Amino acid sequence: MSRRPLVAGNWKMFKTRGEALAFADGLKQGLGTSGDVEIAICPPFTSLDVLASAFAGSGVGVFGQNGHEDANGAHTGEISMEMLVDAGASGVLLGHSERRADNNETDQALARKVPAALAAGLTPVLCIGESEFERDSGTTKAVLDRQVLEGLSGVAIGDFAKVVVAYEPIWAIGTGKSATPEIAQEAHRWIRDQLREICQDAADQIRILYGGSVKPENAAELLSQPDIDGALVGGAALEPDSLLAIAAAATS
Ligand code: PGA
Repeated sequence: MSRRPLVAGNWKMFKTRGEALAFADGLKQGLGTSGDVEIAICPPFTSLDVLASAFAGSGVGVFGQNGHEDANGAHTGEISMEMLVDAGASGVLLGHSERRADNNETDQALARKVPAALAAGLTPVLCIGESEFERDSGTTKAVLDRQVLEGLSGVAIGDFAKVVVAYEPIWAIGTGKSATPEIAQEAHRWIRDQLREICQDAADQIRILYGGSVKPENAAELLSQPDIDGALVGGAALEPDSLLAIAAAATS
């Protein structure tokens, strides 16, 4: 089963609109060297529309970093999936560990957000991953099971193939300490096996990205694993050249 790799750059709370446009110029200059890989940038909300315009026609997508499940309402500080689409987004990160930790985002909330994203026509990227404590105490697989099964519990069977899952062990995020290819592959295989229980054949179509200290130096080894279908990249996605090098590694 061949799955088109996806390399998504999670900018977190970095870059003004001017900086985002400078990045877009640099990235566009290097496109075409990276082979058949889908690239998406997840900027802060303020840069969604300028980046979507800058990338129009280039094939590079723009994703939100979060979205609310309601179409509108009294939710100060939130934006809806429809608003993301209106700003030019084609996908959305959901359940990043920083949001789970800082904004108390729960599996129950994600179970509502994922179908809301799909209904708006967005590609949801459900982020999951265990903490260092959970890994050390042998509960990694139970944690991944819970996050996948609950987070995707609202998805209609016909929509599963549109979902993307990002496995991001929390101990590897922003630490420079990436999972080894073996550890990552074992987790990805486990996640795909769990997906098979809930959506049968679509499990082979769902892209599972690895995230956590991905950089040009370790990307090829990680992305050559059979169940790793791309990367969710934080720090190394802030410069066009390093993101392009990771994208190139995804197809090599
Ligand atoms: P990192 O972040 O690549 O800087 O570890 C990944 C992420 O948080 O998505």
